Amino acid sequence: MRLGINVLLGLVLAATVGAHFGLSADPTLPNREFLPNMVRSIPADAFAPSAVLPGGQTLQAPPPGTIPRGLLPLHYAATPEDAIRAGLELTNPFAPDDQKAINRGTVVFGNYCAACHGPGGLGDGLVTRRGVPPPPSLLVDNALKIADGQMFHIVTYGQKNMSSYASQVSREDRWKAILYVRLLQRQATARVAAPAPPSAPASAPQPR
Ligand code: HEC
Repeated sequence: MRLGINVLLGLVLAATVGAHFGLSADPTLPNREFLPNMVRSIPADAFAPSAVLPGGQTLQAPPPGTIPRGLLPLHYAATPEDAIRAGLELTNPFAPDDQKAINRGTVVFGNYCAACHGPGGLGDGLVTRRGVPPPPSLLVDNALKIADGQMFHIVTYGQKNMSSYASQVSREDRWKAILYVRLLQRQATARVAAPAPPSAPASAPQPR
């Protein structure tokens, strides 16, 4: 029993003395590492030559058919026919009452669409005052009939005078901007449906 305790105390002493010499006293320096080989592998620089990989280069072309993580391919061409097909096949992943998505869509529309389409979607954006042909209103019949997926196709691939916004606006943001366009449309439709406020009779004395 006593021998056991002594051996244990001896081990504790050896560990303490070992730690005293093994660990750095200077807190700005790293401590000694024990078997660091697997933690620190030898990294290959993406653009450095390689002695083992095909073509003598480290960075290899991705195999055909590789897709970026989180970005499923869209199988559409930039044609009006495929815009219609997108309208039948794609649906907005965000719900029309998703307030967070609408808020983001409002920002996206203000940043990327309003310059041409106008802040309210009427087609009276700032650039139209400087000779750019005005886009059609997004609040009238034609745009009301465009399905969400078709609108997504228009923003993604462009349509006539409007170029593609795929490189500037992420997919999620395009869907959210469409949510905002739908909100503008609902508001416009509600305005038309609501009765006009009664106007003051012409003969009434006008306040000055
Ligand atoms: C550089 C100006 C410009 C910008 C920016 C722009 N558009 Fe357009 N957009 C147009 C023009 C011009 C048209 C009409 C194209 C045509 O003749 O079919 C159009 C058409 C559309 C249509 C189809 C309307 C219809 O009745 O056919 C939709 C939907 C649309 N844009 C949405 C957007 C959204 C959403 C954004 C922002 C991500 C955006 N646009 C950004 C110029 C622009």
